[in-house]
Amino acid sequence: MKLHSSSHAVSSATRFITPGQAISAYGVAEVVASSDSEFQKVDLVKGFIHWAEYSVVKAEECTLTKLDTLGFPLTYYLGILGMSGHTAYTGLFGVGKVKEGDKVFVSAASGSVGNLVGQFAKLHGCYVVGCAGSDQKVALLEEKLGFDEAFNYKQQKNLSSSIHLNIKNTQHIQNSRSIVQVLPQRN
Ligand SMILES: NC(=O)c1ccc[n+]([C@@H]2O[C@H](COP(=O)([O-])OP(=O)(O)OC[C@H]3O[C@@H](n4cnc5c(N)ncnc54)[C@H](OP(=O)(O)O)[C@@H]3O)[C@@H](O)[C@H]2O)c1
Repeated sequence: MKLHSSSHAVSSATRFITPGQAISAYGVAEVVASSDSEFQKVDLVKGFIHWAEYSVVKAEECTLTKLDTLGFPLTYYLGILGMSGHTAYTGLFGVGKVKEGDKVFVSAASGSVGNLVGQFAKLHGCYVVGCAGSDQKVALLEEKLGFDEAFNYKQQKNLSSSIHLNIKNTQHIQNSRSIVQVLPQRN
């Protein structure tokens, strides 16, 4: 997860990039040297490190913790077993409390969190509708990620009625709860 984004001007969790400064983001790394007794050389770690081959960090400032991969590829800890996966999982099941048969609508559905929300919901037996900002992304959602329906919100005159129409068209689903991932207004 990146800490810097032009689309996140309103978020207190993000900040602007200062030219010349390394970009920090959630990542995984191997310790090559440490003066912190908690970490030894060759330890695998996760936390907010830099987009760089080598980073010098203070563990307490970047929430650095040791990583036990449990045999999974390291890259999983940047996605499904990382921040995006935790966000998607807790948002869908902890906050949204989805149940089998629910209708789930996912905005930013091809993003790192949205694509997992949709896939978790499908695995849980929900009917999943997603929206994205290009036809290519819509095809990815429907053809590769298993969304039941997807649409390009940039081609809709009225987003609310598009969502309503997609949800309404799923008559065969009895349970009418719907879950919406809300994003800030685009400028
Ligand atoms: N990644 C994490 O670990 C994490 C953790 C906590 C919270 N979050 C929050 O979850 C949300 C999604 O994060 P992400 O990491 O999945 O982002 P991402 O992978 O960077 O995807 C963001 C996508 O959101 C869409 N988008 C941007 N502005 C939009 C708007 N105003 N309305 C509708 N769609 C918009 C764009 O896709 P289209 O082209 O399809 O519009 C963009 O590609 C963000 O609000 C983020 O702050 C993420």
